[in-house]
Amino acid sequence: MANVPQVVFNNGYTCPAIGLGTWKSKPGEVKQAVKDAIDAGYRHLDCAYIYRNEKEVGLALKEKFDEGVIKREDIFITSKLWCTYMHPDLVEGALRTTLSDLGLDYIDLYLIHWPQAFKEGGELFPVDSQGKVILSPVDYVDTWKAMEKVVDLGLTKSIGLSNFSKKQIDRVMEIARIKPVSLQIEVHPYLNQEKLIDYARSLDIAVTAYSPLGSPDRPWAKPGDPHLLEDPLLKTIGEKYNKSPAQILIRYAIDRGLIVVPKSVTKSRIIQNFNVFDFQLTAEDIKTIGSLECNGRLCSMGDVHHPSYPFHDEY
Ligand code: A2P
Repeated sequence: MANVPQVVFNNGYTCPAIGLGTWKSKPGEVKQAVKDAIDAGYRHLDCAYIYRNEKEVGLALKEKFDEGVIKREDIFITSKLWCTYMHPDLVEGALRTTLSDLGLDYIDLYLIHWPQAFKEGGELFPVDSQGKVILSPVDYVDTWKAMEKVVDLGLTKSIGLSNFSKKQIDRVMEIARIKPVSLQIEVHPYLNQEKLIDYARSLDIAVTAYSPLGSPDRPWAKPGDPHLLEDPLLKTIGEKYNKSPAQILIRYAIDRGLIVVPKSVTKSRIIQNFNVFDFQLTAEDIKTIGSLECNGRLCSMGDVHHPSYPFHDEY
């Protein structure tokens, strides 16, 4: 089985550098995908409550535990706190729901999914009569205090952030008793995130790259949008190593020291995406690929009127 690099967190726990992404993986597809991934050697799953498929991920895990293919401690599992559960009183319950759906008694990493809190207690995307998201006044620094409590309770080994800007990370760092171990953000050659990655590193926060393949299945993709996987530069570099553009993109993250969570529900691609440990990009390749940067953010969480919207900041 491939020797997967492990990223060491600032609390000493380690995380496999590649994990299976499960955003957009539909119930009816995700169970088989998780089983195929575990059989292929993946030991890291990237989940979230809002993906609405954690129950099915849990069924796949149960099968693999029951078959004796893996034990709980062999696999790293991340989940994320959704925006309607950011009130400090709701965090423990939200994580307990995720644990029950996944069929686990702890996860390895729990992230605040977005810095923006939405109105609690109803729809996951509560909207007013004009279709605008209804906000909650909860401040993510107060959420962080509740995240620390779920570590104390043993419900998660580590906690971290997702989609936070530099300024927002700083605010959490100022009040943190338990430091975030990681920051999960969109990273690919069209949005190479150099500044934010360097900044997170300076704080000893590991970075996980989501949408590493450019998420061609994102629900809001429009005809004519650039298609990262078809970029000619990636094809050319791929030819040099006899690898596909997807494999080049995955190495682009790993060779920058990132953790990467490519999503697929197709067995052959799940296997292909893991078959990246017999080659390495050169510093020159990384620089060339990085020159595709075009501020090409794909996941901007449309509603920008929230005071904690992260993407108005430079980085
Ligand atoms: P599918 O799940 O149908 O196999 P991202 O991880 O950036 O969100 O991208 C996920 C998208 O990329 C999905 O549409 C997935 O398709 C597709 N994909 C995953 N792996 C590959 C691959 N090796 N080659 C081409 N497309 C891929």
